[in-house]
Amino acid sequence: MTDHLVIRRPDDWHVHLRDGAMLEAVAPHTARQFARAIVMPNLVPPASSVDAVRAYAARIRKAAGPGFEPLMTCYLTDGISPDEIERGYAEGVWVAAKLYPAHATTNSAHGVTDIAKIAPALERMQRIGMKLLVHGEVTDKAVDIFDREAVFIERTMKRLVKDFPALKIVFEHITTKEAAEFVTAGPATLAATITPHHLAIDRNAIFEGGIRPHLYCLPIAKRSIHRTALRKAAVSGSPKFFLGTDTAPHAVHTKEAACGCAGIFNAPVALEAYVRVFDEEGALDRFEGFASLHGPAFYGLPVNEGRIALSRASVKAPERVAAGPGDVVCYLGGQELGWRFEGPVV
Ligand code: NCD
Ligand code: ZN
Ligand code: ZN
Repeated sequence: MTDHLVIRRPDDWHVHLRDGAMLEAVAPHTARQFARAIVMPNLVPPASSVDAVRAYAARIRKAAGPGFEPLMTCYLTDGISPDEIERGYAEGVWVAAKLYPAHATTNSAHGVTDIAKIAPALERMQRIGMKLLVHGEVTDKAVDIFDREAVFIERTMKRLVKDFPALKIVFEHITTKEAAEFVTAGPATLAATITPHHLAIDRNAIFEGGIRPHLYCLPIAKRSIHRTALRKAAVSGSPKFFLGTDTAPHAVHTKEAACGCAGIFNAPVALEAYVRVFDEEGALDRFEGFASLHGPAFYGLPVNEGRIALSRASVKAPERVAAGPGDVVCYLGGQELGWRFEGPVV
């Protein structure tokens, strides 16, 4: 049995770091485990301009401390200027743009109402090699919340892949068997991130003994057959699947509320939560690919120098992290993790 794992330093390809006092509280947790992270732009107002994103990156560097590189993204809005997108990419301010269907998730009110409205931006991104990151859910209220990702594949994702054959697309935080199969069967330009919570919970966990607001996120967790499919994809060794925690902090009073926010804060225990799944699947030998190699390969970035270690150990996850707007409840808080993040190997 492997009790000690040494892997190349990993990256997190999907995080929400927020801003202000919340940013200061959460950024060190991501920077402790990951060398780089793709930072989502769903701030209020959305981070859509070169100037706004450059300034945001500077605040993140300050909050995270040395040795952490934020990889920034641009929030796509209807009619966004292709020239502005290209300028941000050429100046190294951002590496990708994020497509939020309008009103699909937290802070997506300024998202895209119709793909046709960003077609010129997507054409330009395809030409210059800039990646498209997609929150893949339809916003049609007539579609059941548990079907919104699968329906998005049919209504939008298939067409995106077909109409922009050279555009590199990441299907973010996939939650269904349909998405895992679609990405697996798709071209090499298509990849997906998978969160630690969607590998671990199914929809029953949200209602176990009462309503569990800290397990509510979007896309919502699905039936257990979907979790099984996600686990299979993650441990498959396919370079199309890589680590993206979707760590999404919200102050406790905004989650424990009559209309609670969507998002799970997992940054303090991200690697432990993932490695546990690979361990359960008998796939510890595949963990480095998923955590540290497939993401850089897809984004065309070098892998990190340096290594980190994880050990089998009895460790409890922290319950909460104190943040300016209020405490943030941690994923797996108070629970036994079974693995310890040992930090850099020197
Ligand atoms: C994210 C957030 O809080 O910003 N929430 C979530 O439930 N995943 C937004 C997102 O990634 O869709
Ligand atoms: Zn999302
Ligand atoms: Zn997210």
